[in-house]
Parts: sequence; structure tokens; C-alpha cells
Amino acid sequence: VQCDIGFVGAGVMGKNLILNLADHGYRVAAFDLDHKKLESVIQQDQAENNGKAGRVVACSSYTELLAKLSSPHLIILSVPAGRPVDDVCSKLIDAGIKADDIIVDTGNSLWTDTVRREKDYEGKFIFFSTAVSGGEVGARFGPSLMPSGDPYAWTRIEPVWRAIAAKVDPATSRPIERFEPGNPVTEGEPCATYIGPGGSGHYVKMVHNGIEYADMQLICEAYQVMRDALGMTALQVAAVFKEWNQGILNSYLMEISAEVLATKDSETGLPLVDVILDKAGQKGTGLWTAVSSLELGCPSPTIAEAVFARSISTLKEQRVAASTLLAGPVQEKPTEAKREQMIKQLHDALYCAKICVYAQGFDLMKTAGIEHGWALNFAEIAKIWRAGCIIRAVFLQSITDAYERNDDLANLLVDPFFSKQISVYQMNWRRAVADATLLGVPVAALSSALSYYDSYRTAVLPANLLQGQRDYFGAHTFERTDKSKGKTFHVDWSSAARTMVKVK
Ligand code: 6PG
Repeated sequence: VQCDIGFVGAGVMGKNLILNLADHGYRVAAFDLDHKKLESVIQQDQAENNGKAGRVVACSSYTELLAKLSSPHLIILSVPAGRPVDDVCSKLIDAGIKADDIIVDTGNSLWTDTVRREKDYEGKFIFFSTAVSGGEVGARFGPSLMPSGDPYAWTRIEPVWRAIAAKVDPATSRPIERFEPGNPVTEGEPCATYIGPGGSGHYVKMVHNGIEYADMQLICEAYQVMRDALGMTALQVAAVFKEWNQGILNSYLMEISAEVLATKDSETGLPLVDVILDKAGQKGTGLWTAVSSLELGCPSPTIAEAVFARSISTLKEQRVAASTLLAGPVQEKPTEAKREQMIKQLHDALYCAKICVYAQGFDLMKTAGIEHGWALNFAEIAKIWRAGCIIRAVFLQSITDAYERNDDLANLLVDPFFSKQISVYQMNWRRAVADATLLGVPVAALSSALSYYDSYRTAVLPANLLQGQRDYFGAHTFERTDKSKGKTFHVDWSSAARTMVKVK
């Protein structure tokens, strides 16, 4: 019997995607250089399938993989981003893959690599990409999928992706979650939508990760204020987060943060977070988002701050040394009443800052879309982030609503719903940033989001002085507020009269 789908890479994500496909009735021919990984998929598949073999077939070579598939072949890759993707593609070319066969890359690839690959492999096979979010559990029971590339390839992969994607209950905008092998969710709205031409899906996933970084950092800052300024234990913070998760701050990241904080270390019995070393890792997607934001001149300062926060966390030895050298403010233990007040402030601050982070992320996608000629549909993008992915939250529905009201929104901040929300909650946001600052607790992301908001709503920024400085030392010219756009001027700073010269 021929298989429907070929699959290369049976690591954590690959294995779970394979089992998800099998649950939805697809017969999968799988290959991995590491035979043990393949065996583990086969065993788990049988165990989950009442001991019956056959939903997943292990292949020992690329040639065997191709032989097991009906033509034209559909092959999904789940291999580490970077070189391994090209290595597998060239192996598949050697094994005889044809021009109308499709390879779908599901890794966290750099979007420009995807664009390049589409060109490089033209005529050899169709290189299609699908960015996947949701970690292991998402891959197994329903990820959020961001496919992009050749429209014909999309017609072939669409039914597969819609089947295995996470589903949203349209009545509540909440994920329909059923984590039962063999009993997949088939009802609801699938979190898979065609994003656009090659590269756009991975770009959108990259921005998803940038937002993920910032969202995580904001939650961590709230935790640090509660821990360091308010003297709260991990369990106490967990209880606050659990409560916040019931309201407007409801999100998967809030939920798991509460769970992490409530977990005891099995070895020492201490709160687990208290024994986890405070050095953050990163694989690059947040950095890529910040770099893209800088390159496009489209401000995503809070995403960049989140990346910097991870970098500064890695300077552990220096920080420990500096902690006894550098003075902070004298901290007074806040009263019980002040503590309650600060917790409420942090709640509102988190909400406002989160709106700003999404405003930055969506603005970045908009700018990149214009730059690269992608017709991105932001209402749809927010929709497929409502379930399956790491930043999933009911909040995303409000973003969809905003873009459905106006698909050409200049910035999420000027949407009537979001502007009203910030006007309601902003004072506590300001107080949270001020209190944390006075107490010497860093809140880089919370305050950067506030500066973003305040800059965005400021009609006249001090860039007039900046232009004056540039013209003074470098004759870089400036425009005048009282002259037509595009006309530039320079002052002869060396002359006593500071004569104005029209340049263009
Ligand atoms: C997701 C995650 C996933 C991965 C991150 C982690 O959407 O499922 O974003 O892609 O866990 O890349 O990235 P860092 O290791 O950089 O935190």
C-alpha cells in the first residue's frame, strides 16, 4: 500500500506531527538518519493504535521513502533550520524527486532562506514552507500553521494542514483542546491559513516569535517586581497569575507561567523557579525580528528589549559582582495596602504593554508586506494565532475584530477598541513603571512599551532638535514645518548670521 505523505525528521516536533497526521487518517512514510528515532515513532504509533501497525512506515533511505509514496510526492521536512534543510533537499534530488513533487519545510527557518530555496529548487521540485507554532503538544494535537509559497502546492497541502491544525470554537474564540491520541479534534475553525508568497509564512512566524519573546519578558518583569519589590514567594506570584489568567490577561503564556511558579523542585522541595539559573537561552527568532525591525525602520522596541533582556541575563557572573558594587535606591518594604495596589497596577501595565507589543508586531508585518509585495491578511493572521501557538489568547480575537473593522489600520493603537482600552488602563501602567523604577527593579519591556505609546501619540517629537544637530555637524539638511514637503534647507552654521540656505 502506498503512503499519502513522506516525512523527514523524527525529532520531537517531527514525531508529534507524524502521529498527528496518522490520527487524521494519513499514511505516513517516515525517514530519519537516526534509526532509533524512527523506531520510537513506530512504537508509539502502534501503542496508540491498539497495537496495529501500518499508519506509519519506517524507511531506511531516501530512495525507499520516494518508492513508498504515490506521485506526485508530498514530503514534509521537520529538520533543524539552516543547512540541514538544504542537505535533505539535495539528498532527495539525488534520490530522484521530480519537478511536480512538493517539499514542505516546517522548521523555524529564516524567511530569506525560504525565498532563496524557492528559487534554487525551481524546476527540481516545488519548495513550499509552513511555519509551525505550538511546541510538542501543538505538533501532536493541533499546531498553528503559517504556510506560504506556490499556490498550486497550497491546494495540495491545504486539506492536510486544515485537518491537523489546532481548532477554535467560533462561538467563544477559544481553542478546542482534546489531547487524546486517536481522538483528534475535527470540529471548529482550523488555525491554518495561506499567508502569501514564499517567505511570508516564515516572516509571520518570526514576528510571532518576536511577540512571544516580548510577551514572556513582560510576564517575567511582573514576576520580578512581585518577587524583589514586594517580597512575594513563587507560590504567591503563581496565585496572582492564575487569577489574572481568568480575565483580560488570559493567555497560554500566563497559564504556563503560573504553573511553572507553582511547581516544586523534586530534588530539594524548593519552588522550582528558585533553583532554575537566571540565564535565558535563545535560538534566534526574536533577534531576527528585532533586526528586521531595525532594517525596515519600523519600530519594535519592546521586542528588541526582550532580546536584550535575555542577553543581559547571560552576564550572570558580572551581575553577581556588580550587585555588591553598584548602588540602587534604598528600598522600603511596601505596606500591605501598597502591595495590593502595586499588583493591580502591574495587571493593567501588562495589559497595556501587551497591546503595544502586538501593535509593534503587526506594524512590522505590515511594513514588511509592503516592502516585499505580500498582501497579508492581518485579520486572518490574528485568527490562526487564537489556538495552537505559543502566544494563543482570546485577546487575538480583538485583533481580528480590529482588522475586520479596518484592514488598512495605520496601527493597532488607533483602533477604537484598543485606544479606549489603553485610555482606561494607562494610569496604572504609568504608576507600575514609576514604582518599579523608584524601587530599582528593571522593567525594560514594560517601560519601553510605554515610551512607544507616548512617542506614537506625540505630535511633535524632539527630532526637530536632532535634525538641527545633524545639520550643524554634518550639513545633513532638514525640512521646515512652514514649507512644502520634500524641500530641504541647511543653515550656514559658521556664519554669524546663521543664514538659511535652500538646498532642494
Ligand atoms: C513556537 C515556539 C518555537 C520555539 C521557539 C523558542 O512557536 O512553537 O516559538 O518555535 O520554542 O523558537 O525559541 P527560543 O529558544 O529562541 O526561546
